[in-house]
Amino acid sequence: AVLVVDFGAQYAQLIARRVREARVYSEIVPSTMPVAEMLAKNPKAIILSGGPSSVYEEGAPQLDREIFEAGVPVFGMCYGFQLMATTLGGTVDNTGAREYGRTPLHVSRTSSTLFEGTPAEQPVWMSHGDACSAAPEGFTVTASTDVVPVAAFENDEKKLYGVQYHPEVMHSTHGQQILEHFLYRGAGLRPDWTTGNVIEEQIEAIRAQVGEKRAICGLSGGVDSAVAAALVQKAIGSQLTCVYVDHGLMRKGETEQVEKDFVAATGVQLKVVDAQERFLKALAGVSDPEEKRKIIGREFIRVFEQAQAEIVAEAPDDHPVEFLVQGTLYPDVVESGGGTGTANIKSHHNVGGLPEDLEFQLIEPLRKLFKDEVRMVGAELGLPEEIVQRQPFPGPGLGIRIVGEVTKERLDLLREADAIAREELTAAGLDRDIWQCPVVLLADVRSVGVQGDGRTYGHPIVLRPVSSEDAMTADWTRMPYDVLAKISTRITNEVKDVNRVVLDVTSKPPGTIEWE
Ligand code: XMP
Repeated sequence: AVLVVDFGAQYAQLIARRVREARVYSEIVPSTMPVAEMLAKNPKAIILSGGPSSVYEEGAPQLDREIFEAGVPVFGMCYGFQLMATTLGGTVDNTGAREYGRTPLHVSRTSSTLFEGTPAEQPVWMSHGDACSAAPEGFTVTASTDVVPVAAFENDEKKLYGVQYHPEVMHSTHGQQILEHFLYRGAGLRPDWTTGNVIEEQIEAIRAQVGEKRAICGLSGGVDSAVAAALVQKAIGSQLTCVYVDHGLMRKGETEQVEKDFVAATGVQLKVVDAQERFLKALAGVSDPEEKRKIIGREFIRVFEQAQAEIVAEAPDDHPVEFLVQGTLYPDVVESGGGTGTANIKSHHNVGGLPEDLEFQLIEPLRKLFKDEVRMVGAELGLPEEIVQRQPFPGPGLGIRIVGEVTKERLDLLREADAIAREELTAAGLDRDIWQCPVVLLADVRSVGVQGDGRTYGHPIVLRPVSSEDAMTADWTRMPYDVLAKISTRITNEVKDVNRVVLDVTSKPPGTIEWE
């Protein structure tokens, strides 16, 4: 693998993804991992990410010099670049010359390994205070900016490369090309990693792990659990049973999609539990968002446990049910491994929130994949487009899209409004441009309207279309007015008790994507 050393900003995941996009397998390791341990993994190349610190700050992360002397090709970006510079005897100083955002880069040696074939001037994304004024001995300076004399350098003989900017972000227009130059030319790697290998590898591993025993999987209707289930089904067939808890908080047509399309595509054994009454009862009278989330999570676990007991009871002489399939993704693994006390903004509930005392062994066939790779695996497994390209939807479903108490009437109303919005967004061809578009019912708010000749006193519906790359940050989508108009007209005409449609124009931060 190519190791991406994480210096504590959000860049490492993006870099790892870009390396995968270049079809080279990558893994993230924390910068606190001893260099000897990194080298013991026999990395084909190492990339040092950017980070929030200054190399001269007290407690700024450092790296043992050995990392540059092991004969492994290394590419430093931003903080990683400065660390490479200072460790190997170059000069980095706090010149007060700050550069943030889009900056023109002057490439002074287009025959360099990294920059060959790219323009002599190219826009790059900068974010730094310190600046490198002298490259280490043996290095060639390959680029500069108006303020920074050394914005890139390389030592081709030792296979060490560095750039002051962030090649991984979209705004660095030739960033991907430069990354590929490092991987293919600098490190001599070949673009041969595909998700096809993942399927074969995982099927073999799952068979070896499970043997004759049985496994269960909770299906949420989302992409991750669907793809994980399809993969495990392919490996162990009828030894797998999927459980789908219909909590009544699903969107229109969702349960049917799982019941029909998913089963048709995979042939999986499915147990659908109708738990609508139970969830409604548990949620009655509750309007606090965190309390709702906790109730939904708790009830989900109870229903799931009951379903598991039933599966065992139905075939008690069969092999024991010892495994639980989960659609854990690589970002989940990285984030929970980081363990650097991130604030709990919301209690996220999903199938992954099952308690430890369920005493299962886990099967997590997607734990090395990013979301777009999971979609590729799903497509390769023959899952229908509607499942594979599904936009994210929260585990607690419409329960956290009703501001106020959750009741059957309100759920039905919101389901209608949501279905209209989805229909129109799809018809306008916006599904891929919009990351997701929560539709929210403000059940505790009423406003006066006029419809026909009469006064109305109804509820507002909020449209929350957002654009995002990973849901960590998001911006509201500037979507066409005519599509908004159509959605608004249809919702107010067709959905009883709704007399107003409003647009949420808040980014994340400060808002979150969902309202609760
Ligand atoms: P927020 O509202 O925190 O949402 O900006 C970020 C992303 O996560 C989804 N989301 C959830 N997904 N269980 C999930 O599986 C949850 O409890 C949950 N809450 C929010 C949300 O739809 C968005 O994509």
